[in-house]
Amino acid sequence: MKPLIEIHNLTMKFGSLVANEDVSFTIGENEIVGLIGPNGAGKTTLFNCITGFYKPYAGHVMYGGRDLVGLAPYQICRLGIARTFQIVKTLNEMTVEENVMTGAFLHTANRKKAQQIAAEILDATGLTPKKNVLGANLTIADRKRVEIARALATAPRVLMLDECMAGLNQTEIKDVMALCLQLKAKGLSLLIVEHIMEAIMPISDKVVVLNAGRKIAEGKPEQIVNNEQVIQAYLGERYHAKSKKS
Ligand SMILES: Nc1ncnc2c1ncn2[C@@H]1O[C@H](COP(=O)(O)OP(=O)(O)OP(=O)(O)O)[C@@H](O)[C@H]1O
Ligand SMILES: [Mg+2]
Repeated sequence: MKPLIEIHNLTMKFGSLVANEDVSFTIGENEIVGLIGPNGAGKTTLFNCITGFYKPYAGHVMYGGRDLVGLAPYQICRLGIARTFQIVKTLNEMTVEENVMTGAFLHTANRKKAQQIAAEILDATGLTPKKNVLGANLTIADRKRVEIARALATAPRVLMLDECMAGLNQTEIKDVMALCLQLKAKGLSLLIVEHIMEAIMPISDKVVVLNAGRKIAEGKPEQIVNNEQVIQAYLGERYHAKSKKS
């Protein structure tokens, strides 16, 4: 698989705390990469480094022949990498439609055009019936969906989702899983941080495991669930035993 994003030896420090240490992996064209690991492993920090919210202490993030390190978040988004936030950032005084339009305004200043783009995305994400609801009045599941829709409205090649299934019920999780696979079928690449193994494992082509800032494993989901180091650091016997049975 041709790499679209190459993360090379990325290190991020907060004072003496090393949140990411020498992390390297690639995200292929049309690939879903799952990024897992215990709380505080450095997953969100890595997202912030890739998307320009943090400047890494060392390392490179190559995309389309250029290094993204040093670029601002809006520049990286304009190049085709969109992300959602673990702590959702719904614009509360705006309707669902307006929230999604803010994404579309990255590429157009025309309100009508932004509305057209938003309409397509609202449809694809099942939000059309709620397009006039204010952000403040949404459930957590809908807020997370709006986050994804707003990111999609920037027309990304790579979509990065940070725990967009946390707090959702089984049906809602299934919907997001299906959406991820649809986006892949349309040609997008996805980097997905998730603690719900039943959601991330079936849809990932490849899984990268972080622990205490370091990459401890990388491989196909079936390899990762049977990796002793990953089981000890994160998965525990429960998920391991369950996945062995099925
Ligand atoms: N802005 C910051 N300033 C100082 N320390 C930070 C900052 N952001 C993260 N950290 C620390 O870096 C480490 C990695 O945090 P990070 O949020 O990346 O973990 P995570 O893998 O996303 O965890 P979770 O699964 O709980 O979301 C933690 O020890 C955290 O306290
Ligand atoms: Mg996090």
